[in-house]
Amino acid sequence: MPPWPYPFWIAHRGAGKLAPENTLAAFKLGASHGYRAFECDVKLSRDGVPFLLHDADLERTTGQHGIASEHPWDELRTLDAGSWHSPAYAGEPLPTLETIARFCVQGDHRLNIEIKPTPGDESNTGKEVALAAARLWAGQSPPLLSSFQVAALAAAQQTAPELPRALLLDKLESSWLQTALNLQCVAVVARHTLFDETVMRELQAAGLRALAYTVNDPDAAERLTALGLVGLITDAVDRFVPEGNA
Ligand code: G3P
Ligand code: MG
Repeated sequence: MPPWPYPFWIAHRGAGKLAPENTLAAFKLGASHGYRAFECDVKLSRDGVPFLLHDADLERTTGQHGIASEHPWDELRTLDAGSWHSPAYAGEPLPTLETIARFCVQGDHRLNIEIKPTPGDESNTGKEVALAAARLWAGQSPPLLSSFQVAALAAAQQTAPELPRALLLDKLESSWLQTALNLQCVAVVARHTLFDETVMRELQAAGLRALAYTVNDPDAAERLTALGLVGLITDAVDRFVPEGNA
């Protein structure tokens, strides 16, 4: 298999526990802890701008009501996505994917874009995020596109087949490996408790890499490292020192 181009330790949602998740402030905090790779969740505004937000709903991280994708970017850009976390981050905005791309390219950081469509918008989100990623990372080391939504990854595959893809899994159904192969994925990113030697053998035989989320416990990290995973997504950027990153 070709060398894996992403660092082993990946900061989840930027560094989304110590700073407000999926904001530029979280990315900066992760970088200040030595992290050179990040995961974030991306969906579309009503007018098709890819931006970072985990939930479909605005409530938890902005205090506003309703579905984010029903609002144009000009409204979303004014929201405070930091105060819910702590007063120090009051006024921190929701970032566009473009803002995060600039941060990553300038800092030579790698990115795992989790395509997190608003329900019902899976194919369109996969297509638009892939188009944006191909444009924003043109000539650069590309981001890894992942999703739990097969339709989103299939649209990304069709739109920008050259961008690497990973199937996200929170359980192992009988067709998981075939689905990853149909999508021509380079990796599977799964809940860390799903990995064992049998799963790793299946992945290796299929030529797929293995990454896990969300790994915050040192014993779990040790177990997964011994199994041969190539990437761990963590909230615990203050606990795991990403020295030795590729
Ligand atoms: O991409 C890995 C992980 O972020 C998936 O779960 O809910 O934190 O987006 P979630
Ligand atoms: Mg995610």
